[in-house]
Amino acid sequence: MAASLSKILNASLGSLFRRDGRYVSLDIGSSSLKLIEVEGGSGSNLVIRAFGSATLPPTAVQNNMIVEPDSVAGIIRGLLKKVGASAREAITAVPGPAVIIKKLQLPSQSPNELENSVLFEAGNFIPESLENVNLDYMVTDVLEKERQFEVLLVAVKRDIINSYTNTLQLAGLEPVVVDVDYFALENMYELSYPPSESQVVALVNIGARYSCMNILRGGRSTFTGDVPVGGKEFNDALVRNLGVSAAEAEVIKLGTHPAHPLDQVEPVLQPVKEFLAEEIHRALSFFWTAATDEQISTIFVSGGTARVPGLVSLLSERLEVPVHIVNPLTNVTVAGGVDRAALEKDAPSYAIAVGLGVRRPGDK
Ligand SMILES: Nc1ncnc2c1ncn2[C@@H]1O[C@H](COP(=O)(O)OP(=O)(O)OP(=O)(O)O)[C@@H](O)[C@H]1O
Ligand SMILES: [Mg+2]
Repeated sequence: MAASLSKILNASLGSLFRRDGRYVSLDIGSSSLKLIEVEGGSGSNLVIRAFGSATLPPTAVQNNMIVEPDSVAGIIRGLLKKVGASAREAITAVPGPAVIIKKLQLPSQSPNELENSVLFEAGNFIPESLENVNLDYMVTDVLEKERQFEVLLVAVKRDIINSYTNTLQLAGLEPVVVDVDYFALENMYELSYPPSESQVVALVNIGARYSCMNILRGGRSTFTGDVPVGGKEFNDALVRNLGVSAAEAEVIKLGTHPAHPLDQVEPVLQPVKEFLAEEIHRALSFFWTAATDEQISTIFVSGGTARVPGLVSLLSERLEVPVHIVNPLTNVTVAGGVDRAALEKDAPSYAIAVGLGVRRPGDK
């Protein structure tokens, strides 16, 4: 299980609701929110009881923060009702770009000493007063010979995290775990695919405003990062080139605008695909060569923008590596009564929500 920010939240939020083993998992993006209701333990007995998504106003999430909590909470409430989700305990994630992640090597020591050492180290590289940030850490490796711990430290500004937890509370939910999208991707992959002992796999979630990445070696994360490009680039190009409104651009991109069929707007979309492929290629190569000279063997893409026709094959061509659209449903049970075909069709959009769905309060 990847690290998260749950520890601090668990300590600060008491349980106000009965625990019935069901959780709402909410991936709140800048363009849309994706929700699933889950039940059962983590691993292959995870059951999806409900799912749905809703568009958010473009002003609702800005600079990695929910700046219109009432409006987002209203949309969450509406979606919960629409999909018939009854769980009240919620798991969500803050966006990777809001998070400072650092790997530390510290001499092996007792848990209490470790906490103090981590706080001391954190003070050295976090450009904020520690009072204004939520911190979490976990020991990710024990290097016996060197008598060292490898520690992953995660820090987020309190204002940012509070904007997510306040919004959930306004929606009548109790936030029990706040994760980070990078880690949710990793947990989704761990749930859905068998561990690949020596292979290097890159997970890339292409959203609307940014693409988040997690590079794993032998199933362990070696790099997390992001690039500020996503599906919004297509909309901006359509607005610029065709003089259409932002709302129309979205309909054109989805191929459902009667006056602008996809094949006619391809000359506008193609250069954007090239641009996205190039930016993702560049980021992956840069991030990866900084770490090792091993080749990435496979790339799994997710997020709404993974569904842009032709983008995956272009990525594969550029990166010279097989690129697959992730299927986060390979190892979950979909409850009877849930529209499985509709969920499968949108599955790449639910990758992060599924990764959040395996988290439980207090786990590590
Ligand atoms: N079928 C589709 N074809 C093309 N683009 C699509 C399709 N479905 C969704 N998208 C695009 O995917 C993007 C939304 O993806 P996603 O829900 O992953 O983003 P987000 O979480 O809201 O954004 P971010 O995480 O970057 O803040 C939008 O730009 C949307 O237009
Ligand atoms: Mg997103």
